[in-house]
Amino acid sequence: MEAANLNRANRWKKRHTHRFSVFPQSLLTLIPTLLVLSLIFFLSYKHFVSDFLQMSRISQPLQCSSQLEALGDKFIWYAPHSGFSNQLSEFKNAILMAAILNRTLVIPPVLDHHAVALGSCPKFRVLSPKDLRLSVWNHIIELIRGRRYISMADIVDLSELVSTSAIRVIDFRVFVSMWCGMEIDCAYSEDSEKELSMFENLRQCGSLLSGNNGNWNKCLYSVDEDCRTTVWTYQKNEDGVLDSFQPDEQLKNKKNLSFVRRRQDIYKSLGPGSGAASATVLAFGSLFTAPYKGSESYIDIHDAPRDPHTEYLLKKIEFLPFVPEIMSAGKEFALETVKAPFLCAQLRLLDGQFKNHWEATFLRLKQQLESLKQTGLHPVHIFVMTDLPIGNWTRSYLGNLVRDSNAFKLFVLREEDELVKRTAKKLVAAGYGLKFGFVPEGFDGIGKHCHPPLLPDILLYIEEAVCSCASLGFVGTAGSTIAESIELMRKNAVCLFKV
Ligand SMILES: *[C@@H]1O[C@H](CO)[C@@H](O)[C@H](O)[C@H]1NC(C)=O
Ligand SMILES: *[C@@H]1O[C@H](CO)[C@@H](O)[C@H](O)[C@H]1NC(C)=O
Ligand SMILES: *[C@@H]1O[C@H](CO)[C@@H](O)[C@H](O)[C@H]1NC(C)=O
Repeated sequence: MEAANLNRANRWKKRHTHRFSVFPQSLLTLIPTLLVLSLIFFLSYKHFVSDFLQMSRISQPLQCSSQLEALGDKFIWYAPHSGFSNQLSEFKNAILMAAILNRTLVIPPVLDHHAVALGSCPKFRVLSPKDLRLSVWNHIIELIRGRRYISMADIVDLSELVSTSAIRVIDFRVFVSMWCGMEIDCAYSEDSEKELSMFENLRQCGSLLSGNNGNWNKCLYSVDEDCRTTVWTYQKNEDGVLDSFQPDEQLKNKKNLSFVRRRQDIYKSLGPGSGAASATVLAFGSLFTAPYKGSESYIDIHDAPRDPHTEYLLKKIEFLPFVPEIMSAGKEFALETVKAPFLCAQLRLLDGQFKNHWEATFLRLKQQLESLKQTGLHPVHIFVMTDLPIGNWTRSYLGNLVRDSNAFKLFVLREEDELVKRTAKKLVAAGYGLKFGFVPEGFDGIGKHCHPPLLPDILLYIEEAVCSCASLGFVGTAGSTIAESIELMRKNAVCLFKV
């Protein structure tokens, strides 16, 4: 095994906050400065007079962003959270919602792992949609500020869905520039006064977009139903009926809950003819759902879709491939580094519930390796993707495998590996996120200026791509969404050059 003593960066660890806090704690002391700065900003950007600035002065009905309205389209945004797999499943639901409601989907960036959490639906303890939207907004600002913004569409290949007009999309950065009436420009970081006022303005318009000031006519409709009260459906004759999963008496008494969960028809509630229909922007909170006790926690649109388009999309979103750059990196690693048939072992050992299940996780690997050894393979090549740093392998089953180098040959990928860095550079250069949907002429603020020195963290996706090429099989961690995602890739045979 190469470089076994190198401690692998743990991508599952929450990132440290950027060196600047977006919202200074000592805001009070800054208020006079901020006022002056806002004024400077206001005067020098008169042609971008923003709604929110007017709002803080006069309390008359707001006008929606005229730039956004001029597009003649209606939009939908939502607040993704938790890890990547979770964000991906929400993204798929968002595609579905956008299609059903015939709105342009605002494509979010990939958020840091667990930078934003929802809570627990079965326990009826979740962040409200409004608070979730605000946390997501703040985190995105942090990503922009830290120059770590990477769009979901930079990672997930949307080309087919967009080129067939199955969905319409717009990049979050473009959307926000239009909504806020200002160009987000990281070049400002050279000028701290400009930067401060830009982020203060962003904070304010984010607050509006999150629905913090309520809905405004024709501009914003914020969906405040969440999994405590609502299961969205798109089937006939279900609107308003009680869902089969309700808080039980014990929970009701213990937590003093008064929630009743109803099934609501998404089209009837938020589509044409509803109060939301005329709003330029429709804002959801989480779009996460999971099967629970015979029902779904939040979205139950599986069968009996009402129209062929939804049926088509349901099939399409079952599996969304990674962009070609990521898939080729996986194939390259399989062909040029492993160079032999191999097994992929995805071992999630540290995060959350997984740290208590080492034994079960390793047992499955052990069994698989025993049966591979029976076939006379020697040595067995294994690609390992795990959150356990290599320095900690020694006292685990992985340590045994490393020591038994006659029988096993182990491979890992690390963030600092040339292949990973090269692929990250390619993704940044490809900039898929800004290739779909409307982009104003000359829009490059955040595209060019904000793009890294810092390369995005794409190790996980390449690891998944490598595992999709493992011809000796796949052993995943029970209950891990990463394992599910790899199974799905393997089922869809995305690796054309199986080794
Ligand atoms: C969907 O929205 C687009 C763009 O706003 C519009 O042109 C089209 O007519 C709408 N389709 C339906 C079926 O309402
Ligand atoms: C339970 O909630 C209701 C309103 O939802 C409130 O009026 C009542 O005081 C609460 N009871 C306890 C014991 O907290
Ligand atoms: C990994 O190793 C480090 C340093 O030896 C140690 O502090 C840490 O507790 C270990 N973690 C696990 C999960 O064993």
